[in-house]
Amino acid sequence: MTSKLLRIEHSPKLKGELSLHGAKNAALVILISLVLTKGKSCLYNIPQSCDVKNILLLLQQLGALVTINPATNAVEIDTSTIDNTRVSADLMQKTRASVLVLGPLLARYRSAEIALPGGDADLGPRPINYHIHNLRKMGADISTDGTFIKGSAHQLHAHSIILDYPSVGATENILMAATLTPGTTRIVNAALEPEVFDLIAILQKMGASITIQPPATLLIEGVKELKPVEHTIIPDRLEAGSLLLAAAITGGHLTLPQARAYDLEIFLMKLQEMGHNVTTGDNGIGITLQATNAPQAVSFKTGPFPGFPTDLQAPMMVAQCLAHGISTIEETVFEDRLAPHARELMKMGARIDIAHNKATIHGGLPLRGTMVHATNIRASCALALAGLAAEGVTYMSGLSHWTRGYQNLDEKLLQLGAKLSIVDDEHAVAYADSSIAAEKSL
Ligand code: EPU
Repeated sequence: MTSKLLRIEHSPKLKGELSLHGAKNAALVILISLVLTKGKSCLYNIPQSCDVKNILLLLQQLGALVTINPATNAVEIDTSTIDNTRVSADLMQKTRASVLVLGPLLARYRSAEIALPGGDADLGPRPINYHIHNLRKMGADISTDGTFIKGSAHQLHAHSIILDYPSVGATENILMAATLTPGTTRIVNAALEPEVFDLIAILQKMGASITIQPPATLLIEGVKELKPVEHTIIPDRLEAGSLLLAAAITGGHLTLPQARAYDLEIFLMKLQEMGHNVTTGDNGIGITLQATNAPQAVSFKTGPFPGFPTDLQAPMMVAQCLAHGISTIEETVFEDRLAPHARELMKMGARIDIAHNKATIHGGLPLRGTMVHATNIRASCALALAGLAAEGVTYMSGLSHWTRGYQNLDEKLLQLGAKLSIVDDEHAVAYADSSIAAEKSL
C-alpha cells in the first residue's frame, strides 16, 4: 500500500471564519468515563480523529454498543452490555489515553487487565506511577509484568491524595475511580486543564459529587451509581491555537466564533506581544486575530494550566522561527518535546539551538520546503504550518500523527486559502528526484 504524505505549498495570507471541533483530549477521557455508568449516553461534538476512533474500539472491546453519526459528530454509547474488563495490547498501544480506563474499571467492575499504553513515543519518559501508586493507596491490588497491568479491588476506599505534579491523566484516572468509592477522596495539586473541567462537568451530570477547593484540590464524595447522560464536548483550544498560528504566520486574518479565550490566555497574550492584533468576544467567547506584517520574537515557558500549553509549543516555535529577533522556549511538561520538530525545522532552514529542555531560536531566517517527518501529533501540526510559510513545496511524512490528533485540519486550512493536499508517497519521490537534478544542474 502506498503511504500518504501531506504536500504543502507556500500559501497566501489565510483568511476567514471557522467553527471548531470538540476537544480531542476531553472527548477521549469523557468517552472512557461512560464505563462508570450503566445505560445509553449520547455525546455531541466528538471529533473523528483516529485517537477517538481507537477509544471507541476500546469501549466496544469491553462490550459497549457504539453508534456513530458521522454527519453530526454525535456518538451514542450503551454501556449496559459491558461484560469484559480486559483490553488487548493492540488497542492499548494505539493511544495513550487508554490507560484512563484503569480507574473506571476498578471502581465499577473491581477488575482490570490492560497493556501498558502507547501514544507519542518521543515526548520523553511517560511514566504512569502517579496513576498506579494512588489507585493502590485507594485499595487496588495492581501488578505489572512490564507488558500488562492487572488490577483488582475488593472495594476501593477513599483516600487523601497529594500529586507530586498536577498530571492531567493521573487526576482524571483517580477522579473517575473516586466517584464510585465510598467516603471523601481528596486530590491535592490536581490538574485544572479545561479538559479536566469538562470531565468534572459530565461526571456531575451523571450524579457524582465533586467540589473544587482553591487553589487546586478536588473533593469527591463517592456515590452508589452514576446514570447515563447527554453532553456536548467543549471546543478544542488546541485546534483553535493552531489555526490562529496558521493565520499569524501567513499574515492573515481569522475569526473563531466558538473559541474560548479564557482557555488560552497566556497563549493569546504572547500572540499580542508578537504584535498581532487579538480581540475576544463578550464573556471571552470568540477570538479574532489580525496578523502583523512585522512579528517580533517572544520567549515563553510551558506549564500546567493556566500556563502556556505544551501542546501549542511546537506550532508556536514555527512562529518564532519566522519572527524578528531571538527567543527562548523552555519546555517544562515533557522534557524531550523540543527536538523532534526543531530538528525538522532546521532542515527547512531554521536556526535553533537546543540545550536539554530549552531552545534558543534565531528568528527571521526564511524557511524552505523540503521533506520532513512528523513523530508526534503536535509536531505534525508545526511542520504543516511551517510548510505554509516556507518557499517552495514541503512534504510531510508521519501523517498518522496528523490524523490521530485532528479531524480534517487540512480541510479547514484549505477553506482559509492554504495550498495543501494529501498525496501518495510517490509524488514526494518524484519531487526529491527533481530537486536533486536541479541541484546537480547548478
Ligand atoms: N507524569 C509522571 N507520572 C505520571 C503521570 C505523568 O511523571 O504518572 C509526568 C509526565 O511524564 C509528564 C508530566 O507528568 O512529564 C505531565 O503529564 P500528564 O500526566 O499531565 O500528561 P498526560 O495525561 O499523559 C495529557 C494530554 C497530552 C498533554 C498533557 C499535558 C491526553 C490524552 N493527553 O497527557 O496531550 O500534552 O496532558 O497537558 O489528555 C496531545 O494531545 O498531543 C498530548 C500529548
